[in-house]
Amino acid sequence: MNSKQSQLPPSAASVLVWDLPTRIFHWVFAASVIGALACALIGGDAMTWHMRFGYTALTLAAFRLLWGFVGPRYARFASFPPRPFAAFRYLRDGARQAFTGHNPAGALSVYAMLGSVSLQAVTGLFANDDVLWSGPLSALVSNDFVALATKLHHLNGNLIYLLVFLHLGAIAFHGLVRHEPLIKAMISGKRDRCSSQASTREPDARDGLTVRLLALALVVACSLATWYIAAQG
Ligand code: HEM
Ligand code: HEM
Repeated sequence: MNSKQSQLPPSAASVLVWDLPTRIFHWVFAASVIGALACALIGGDAMTWHMRFGYTALTLAAFRLLWGFVGPRYARFASFPPRPFAAFRYLRDGARQAFTGHNPAGALSVYAMLGSVSLQAVTGLFANDDVLWSGPLSALVSNDFVALATKLHHLNGNLIYLLVFLHLGAIAFHGLVRHEPLIKAMISGKRDRCSSQASTREPDARDGLTVRLLALALVVACSLATWYIAAQG
């Protein structure tokens, strides 16, 4: 997967960190999680949309899992492995060190968010509210399993609120205190070299047509899998 693009000399001012598929993934994923939470709060007929947002989050979580193995360098899990001690040191030192991709604490939060949203979407498939709404796979398993999945769906829903709150807090901290425009980077894909490790010249992430077509193929495959699951209901 290391294409010629990643060997090109990097541009001086900025480095492309987030490829287009990762950026689109992020904003649609955020919107679908917020949409699912909002519709769960509203309840009633909004549960139809709760499930639609939930299916979208499930599809995107599956895509991001695959993208973590075959996507461009900064999106790959190998470039931000879970390192709790490094995350602790990073936070203890006041989050001063700059990183081109995810910093060690950010990496842990990415795993936590992807893991908890995935668990939420999967448990939702088996959940039921004993009245009107049930996940598409709930009729295929025992009542005990449905009860467990529903309980987990409720408990883990609270964890998601907490993780999103911490996520937004961390981003606000980096923006307001460290003057690192992370949101701008998640929109344009680019980060200032001076706000990343200044001494090194990391290559841009690959973001050509092949990368985008690969992402599209993966999204289509994940959507078909979700559609098949939803059709069981
Ligand atoms: C429910 C809402 C959200 C969820 C579940 C979420 C989830 C995530 C995930 C999984 C990543 C890792 C991206 C990747 O490597 O694929 C990420 C990164 C990021 N998110 Fe969010 N996000 C949410 C809302 C937001 C919002 C509202 C903002 C902006 C105000 C935001 C700004 C960012 C930024 C700037 C990064 C990159 C952080 C870095 O440079 O390491 N997110 N988010
Ligand atoms: C990002 C994904 C999801 C999030 C954040 C989420 C969140 C929630 C939350 C917070 C509740 C509790 C509402 C309450 O307090 O009564 C809930 C209920 C429910 N969700 Fe989800 N959900 C997601 C995905 C799904 C999916 C994919 C399905 C099924 C297709 C689903 C089906 C249900 C059902 C049937 C309930 C009602 C359970 C009950 O009231 O006991 N959810 N969801």
